[in-house]
Amino acid sequence: MIIDKITDNEITTLEENFPEVFNHKGIKQDLVDNPFSKYLFFSLDSKIVAFINYTLIYDRIEIININVLDDYQNKKIASNLLEEVIKIGKVNNCVNITLEVNVDNFKAIALYKKFMFNEVAIRKGYYDGKDALLMERSL
Ligand SMILES: CC(C)(COP(=O)(O)OP(=O)(O)OC[C@H]1O[C@@H](n2cnc3c(N)ncnc32)[C@H](O)[C@@H]1OP(=O)(O)O)[C@@H](O)C(=O)NCCC(=O)NCCS
Repeated sequence: MIIDKITDNEITTLEENFPEVFNHKGIKQDLVDNPFSKYLFFSLDSKIVAFINYTLIYDRIEIININVLDDYQNKKIASNLLEEVIKIGKVNNCVNITLEVNVDNFKAIALYKKFMFNEVAIRKGYYDGKDALLMERSL
């Protein structure tokens, strides 16, 4: 089930479960710092097992991160979250959705291609020296 609000305890657990994502900044601080930042969460077995973070700025959506706990991968959870963000983009009359993904992240790239994201450019050295692929999906 996709939800857009979780409790403080669930936020803490989620941040502990994804230490590499939240090592610099937690969700609550991100929402304070960036009013355009949004999160959707996926709840399963009474547990938050995945999230998608995106920004909605006027007519553009950028996906910042999508993550599913290892034990819950390959169950179409990321697909569900992406579908929801695509719906939100359409409702808000956005022109497109963009994202950057590490060129080595074949799983994520396959996921995005499945959802009709096209490769637009390579961002040289975007991730600590590693290249990123800029992808875009028209809405
Ligand atoms: C990438 C990620 C979000 C996918 O989540 P998921 O819930 O397992 O994905 P889904 O079950 O919805 O899979 C949908 C599609 O993703 C692609 N995919 C997922 N796992 C894959 C794998 N092991 N190999 C190749 N493609 C894969 C496929 O296209 C798949 O569609 P298919 O099952 O019809 O072939 C998840 O692996 C993850 O959290 N990875 C770590 C974080 C990350 O890299 N995030 C992306 C940052 S940009």
